Amino acid sequence: NKIGVIFDLDGVIVDTAKYHYLAWKELADDLGFEFTEKHNELLKGVSRVRSLEILLGIGNISISEEKKQEYLVSKNEEYLGYITKMGANEILPGASELLDALDNVGIKYVLGSASKNAPLILKQIGLYDRFAGIVDGNSVSKAKPDPEVFLIGAEKLNLTPKQCVVFEDAIAGIEAAKNANMISVGIGDENTLKEADYNFNNLTEVPSDFFEKLVTLN
Ligand code: BG6
Ligand code: MG
Repeated sequence: NKIGVIFDLDGVIVDTAKYHYLAWKELADDLGFEFTEKHNELLKGVSRVRSLEILLGIGNISISEEKKQEYLVSKNEEYLGYITKMGANEILPGASELLDALDNVGIKYVLGSASKNAPLILKQIGLYDRFAGIVDGNSVSKAKPDPEVFLIGAEKLNLTPKQCVVFEDAIAGIEAAKNANMISVGIGDENTLKEADYNFNNLTEVPSDFFEKLVTLN
């Protein structure tokens, strides 16, 4: 009876959505259309390439493959400007405490993120060395809701999918966890993440006996 945990990064451990928003908005401004925070919701958990496609769709803009590559680079440069200024003070409430609690009971955890910048962000906030493994946008070929990212995570944990608990803030992420046959925990709005097996508004709300109970249920 063993379990392991797979954490999404953006929206679970840190709030980088605001920086993605500012960087995408800069591009939308240049292209001359409005990009709102509501639009930004559509990009949560979604890969960089897919995000650009959604953004261009919002602006009703079609461009060459070459231009797309150019925009992907400039957006990321803009985004890097924000995340290279991040520090441990940007770790979301409850995250450090949860990792400590897992360490104390010997439950291993890995990262399962769509972001190619995940290692950099983890280093910025000082959590890089805490994870037993890191699966990010560089190591997957299929984006969430495809289960690939989490299945590689399970391999790194040396556990079966059913022994893995996924913490996610995005609909695509919860779907990916379901597709992987894992236990899913939605962090954020319960109505948005209603497909999740368990829901909490944020990590501070995860009860201290949560994992203990999961082990007995498993
Ligand atoms: C996800 C974010 O974690 O990473 C998405 O939720 C983002 O909004 C995706 O588009 C890809 O990130 P990056 O850092 O590779 O551009
Ligand atoms: Mg996320």
